Amino acid sequence: MPTTNRQLHLQSRPKGLLAPGDLQLKESSLPELKDGQALAKVKYLSMDPTMRVWMAGDTYLPAVGIGEVMRAAGFAEIVESRHPDYKKGDRVTGLTGLQDYVIIDSSEKRFFQKVPKIPFVSDTVFLGVLGINGLTAFFGMEIAQAKKGETLVVSAAAGATGSIAGQIGKIQGCRVVGIAGTEEKCAWLTKDLGFDAAVNYKDSNWKEKLAAATPNGIDIDFENVGGEIMQEVLSRMNLHGRVVVCGFISGYTKEDPNMVSLGTVIVKRLRIQGFLILDYASRFMEAATQLGQWKMFGKLKDRETIVEGLEKASDAINMLFTGGNIGKLIVKL
Ligand SMILES: NC(=O)c1ccc[n+]([C@@H]2O[C@H](COP(=O)([O-])OP(=O)(O)OC[C@H]3O[C@@H](n4cnc5c(N)ncnc54)[C@H](OP(=O)(O)O)[C@@H]3O)[C@@H](O)[C@H]2O)c1
Repeated sequence: MPTTNRQLHLQSRPKGLLAPGDLQLKESSLPELKDGQALAKVKYLSMDPTMRVWMAGDTYLPAVGIGEVMRAAGFAEIVESRHPDYKKGDRVTGLTGLQDYVIIDSSEKRFFQKVPKIPFVSDTVFLGVLGINGLTAFFGMEIAQAKKGETLVVSAAAGATGSIAGQIGKIQGCRVVGIAGTEEKCAWLTKDLGFDAAVNYKDSNWKEKLAAATPNGIDIDFENVGGEIMQEVLSRMNLHGRVVVCGFISGYTKEDPNMVSLGTVIVKRLRIQGFLILDYASRFMEAATQLGQWKMFGKLKDRETIVEGLEKASDAINMLFTGGNIGKLIVKL
């Protein structure tokens, strides 16, 4: 049985991107398991922009405390168990934290979900298309109430959530336009995922390109970014359009996030709704079943960017904010 654990502790609250030392690698010994506990080996860690939010302060979850193991979602396999609900070999997803091993304790409220072994399906899908990102895209698109023929614009479209949201829009019969930060990402969206158009927001004339890609205006904004991108999309919205506010990644590393002026919401009679995936927990199974079927029948394609090694997690988190990932970003341990 393993006796030591490596963990990344939050040592200081980052300013901007994570700097060396904000997360510190420490080694500790693993205690003997008590009744009601199981030990799980973390195999994959999900890199999520919200981790940067958790480092900054209290929001929808309390901030990670200085000196605490950094909170993160992950995929783990039970290696030893004295827990009534788990046996050796069971596979789970949940808030494992940035560490090699996690102790799951029946007296703690931390939520872990058992996941099945499905032939020809990689374990990592449970962190991406069949995990939080797929579920977020699913419920975000439910809020959007898309109708056939409407124009949907998705920002951070080549990321884990945006790429699925756009494909759901295609399944629902929308004209789908993605906004992403490289030509390679834009080509993936149009050539592989079936988006009708993709606009690289780093091009100097991206606003003209967005206008050309949305000749009938925009009915739905699946907003992952905020700031200037959201402002431009809002300016092209049609009357009674819907704005699904999934995330504002452009602001997470800033002290003073770019504000968006909402005057157009009145003029265009827009409906704006923010949401948190945590609120949909009772419907995860229903959504995962649908996402799984779409994936099985080739209607949903997913892609992963894998970084190897716990010690690389800090750089990996930064990749989310510099655009270094295509699809789901995962750290493999
Ligand atoms: N509401 C919820 O419950 C919920 C749940 C999960 C995720 N989210 C949100 O969904 C969004 C996407 O998350 P994800 O996990 O799927 O990450 P992701 O899209 O896989 O990765 C983030 C991507 O955002 C883009 N980006 C970063 N900074 C940007 C900026 N300043 N301007 C424009 N694009 C920028 C980058 O791609 P480019 O190369 O295109 O710049 C990057 O690859 C985030 O806002 C996140 O907070 C919300």
